[in-house]
Amino acid sequence: MKNITFIGSGYVGLVSGAGISDFGHKVICADISEEKIQLLKNGKVPIYEPGLTELIKKNVDAGRLFFTSDLKKAIKKSDIIFIAVGTPQGEDRAADISSVKSVAKIIGENLNKYKVICTKSTVPVGTGELVKKIINKHNDKQTPFGYVSNPEFLREGSAIKDFLWPDRIVIGSDNKKSFDIMKEVYNPLYINDKPILNTSIVTAEMIKYAANAFLALKISYINEVANLCEALGANVQDVSKAMGQDGRISSKFLHPGPGYGGSCFPKDTKAFAALSRKNGQKMQTIEAAIEANKHQKIRMVKKIRSLVDGDFSKKIISVLGLSFKPNTDDIRDSASIDMINAINDGGGLVRAYDPIANDSMKKLFRNVEYFESWEEACKDADAVVIMTEWNEFRSMSIQKLKQLMNKPVLLDTRNIISIQKLKENEFYYDNVGRVSDDAN
Ligand SMILES: NC(=O)c1ccc[n+]([C@@H]2O[C@H](COP(=O)([O-])OP(=O)(O)OC[C@H]3O[C@@H](n4cnc5c(N)ncnc54)[C@H](O)[C@@H]3O)[C@@H](O)[C@H]2O)c1
Repeated sequence: MKNITFIGSGYVGLVSGAGISDFGHKVICADISEEKIQLLKNGKVPIYEPGLTELIKKNVDAGRLFFTSDLKKAIKKSDIIFIAVGTPQGEDRAADISSVKSVAKIIGENLNKYKVICTKSTVPVGTGELVKKIINKHNDKQTPFGYVSNPEFLREGSAIKDFLWPDRIVIGSDNKKSFDIMKEVYNPLYINDKPILNTSIVTAEMIKYAANAFLALKISYINEVANLCEALGANVQDVSKAMGQDGRISSKFLHPGPGYGGSCFPKDTKAFAALSRKNGQKMQTIEAAIEANKHQKIRMVKKIRSLVDGDFSKKIISVLGLSFKPNTDDIRDSASIDMINAINDGGGLVRAYDPIANDSMKKLFRNVEYFESWEEACKDADAVVIMTEWNEFRSMSIQKLKQLMNKPVLLDTRNIISIQKLKENEFYYDNVGRVSDDAN
């Protein structure tokens, strides 16, 4: 059993911290936000992630999981410190690692015995060396420490499953001692035959960006295929299904939509592109994926504008789904933000509904009306736009939707509504890459 601290208790820190405490280790989840820590101490989970509340409660009750905003104390008590703070997009498109740097400083100042410092945040290649330098600079007593990079691959919405049953664990290290300690942390997974990949620190940092950028590239690719399907009368759902059946391609991340969003792909692709340019190795594929994604979001706005006769002015548009994907309350870089902005700018009125993310979006848009059900949100609407593929939208009664609306107009950016049903109910509609019948 190890004593472990996670610094940064957001989507990654909380899920990984709770997950590792579930392996039997004693874990402190620390955060600079006292509000967040207070909520957690009161048994409330500040984010929505399926299964997280239960996992946290189970491990708190077992006396293995604790919360604090006292970073110094948490660092001193631990054998292993995970850095899981945010690394948002900076002004120059590169990742902003200021939080990582300030955490490195506090760790250096509070090194009271040998510890392994592990970066889980997604950081530009080369950050490991910088973190080590900062720790050393503030480590007055020159207490020895180990450093590893352990990028995280979980997806919001299925984060617990992804963390507890990962495809692989990547540990970048420069010495055996710290790698062996990390192997012990993940031992329960290792016993279950999960491959642990031991690489150099820079390689581990590179793996994370290369993997995320590739997935974003795949989404931009299928979005462009969908757009061409529209022009040629082909059905993208059949195309992606057949492509996905090819083992070399895989069916994952082959669903066309309104453009990728979320807390990772947009910022990680930009950071990766910035890193490649800085190193004189411009990655044209990634630059193209970023550009294609920008156009996909614009394309969705054009689609809804053309469905409402080219003018949003005074039209009521209902936006269903605000989070960047289902099963999360995360709206960071969600395509729905671009959609709402465009409707607002064009003088339209937005009525929005999301099963979980209304509160997150309220912080961003006050001039939007929020509702507690899709039925309320769609009442008297001149058009409805589905932005997130929540299950409850898949099963929406199209007949009932028509009755509620002022005009039966629908843009399905996630291809979840049967075209047959839309036709039967005489909807004026559009979607992404399906001009003919659907493959549902
Ligand atoms: N969200 C994901 O799906 C995901 C998946 C894999 C990797 N990542 C990466 O993991 C990192 C964290 O992402 P996240 O989504 O959990 O972010 P988040 O914004 O949800 O959480 C970050 C937390 O760090 C805290 N924090 C910031 N500065 C701090 C400091 N100086 N000291 C202590 N706490 C501090 C914040 O208060 C916040 O609670 C990022 O680098 C991200 O790219 C995220």
